Amino acid sequence: MRSSNSLSKIKAENAKISFSYIPVAVFVGGTSGIGRGIAEAFARHTKGNAHIIIVGRNRAAAESIIASFPQPTSPTAKHEFIECDVSLLKNVRQVTSEILNKHAKLNFLVLSAGALDHNRTRLTEDGIDPVTALSYHSRWKLIYDLAPALEKARNDNEDAKVLSVLSAGNGGKIDLSDLELKKASLMTWIQSLMTYNDIMMDFSWRGTDSFRFEFCVPLDANMGLPCQLHPSLLSSYDTGKLWGVPTVRDSLYCWRIGKHGNDIEKQGYYGDDTSRDALWKHTMEVTDSK
Ligand SMILES: NC(=O)c1ccc[n+]([C@@H]2O[C@H](COP(=O)([O-])OP(=O)(O)OC[C@H]3O[C@@H](n4cnc5c(N)ncnc54)[C@H](OP(=O)(O)O)[C@@H]3O)[C@@H](O)[C@H]2O)c1
Repeated sequence: MRSSNSLSKIKAENAKISFSYIPVAVFVGGTSGIGRGIAEAFARHTKGNAHIIIVGRNRAAAESIIASFPQPTSPTAKHEFIECDVSLLKNVRQVTSEILNKHAKLNFLVLSAGALDHNRTRLTEDGIDPVTALSYHSRWKLIYDLAPALEKARNDNEDAKVLSVLSAGNGGKIDLSDLELKKASLMTWIQSLMTYNDIMMDFSWRGTDSFRFEFCVPLDANMGLPCQLHPSLLSSYDTGKLWGVPTVRDSLYCWRIGKHGNDIEKQGYYGDDTSRDALWKHTMEVTDSK
């Protein structure tokens, strides 16, 4: 259970975060909620000396968040907004190439864009409902397209991490004959998206497995998110200490963090080799990835 003791420990650990380089961090969903909390805390703990890119639709919100960041002292640090509706895969392609054109390396990719809408009848031009697209396909595509920049950071011995905020541990069995989730009931649809996220974060990414993923469910988000909790997730070293997880894991690239900040390991995990292969193939086709 999270306690005031763990919160104060987390705050203390956050205060120690420092980088020997200017980190590059992308926050997709950083204009609001959890993503905003993480972005602001990241800016605060780096004292603004980071290249921070917020991706979303709400320019006014982004500009006000960026204006609140500490002014960097490093001339290479920069804070910017890229306006993008990431529920459309063509827009994701555009935003990832814009980021790759500017940045050979990426240290942190924080994915929290989402929406609460149970109406699955409205489909995007990709033929996917927006919630499914935001919770899974666009996140998958962002990771897939930006993997070379994460790899570059890892090869340079820098942090290279992806955090996907959804609902670890609350998934369910998936139906391999309905990976498009066209026939799924409301509950099966929601739980399948969580399992898709689990599998996405645990893919080992076929040849790009040199970086580690971290995965988090909102921590008491409905009670007012304590944003101080999140920047700790951006450092494997601090995360390891904070959550009691070993800092270095040789064979496991995905941490699943539950709502109390604990490592939930494979609890509520419904992936296996068969579903991983089927989902990978399906997603490559839907996202038109090569
Ligand atoms: N809060 C909770 O209790 C809770 C519980 C379980 C799961 N979750 C999941 O955790 C994630 C984060 O939740 P939250 O509470 O931080 O959500 P939130 O406050 O509603 O923020 C959602 C973010 O997603 C972005 N977004 C939505 N549609 C987008 C689009 N089409 N293109 C680009 N960006 C888009 C929004 O940015 P713009 O408006 O700028 O586009 C915003 O920054 C979501 O996936 C949510 O479903 C949350």
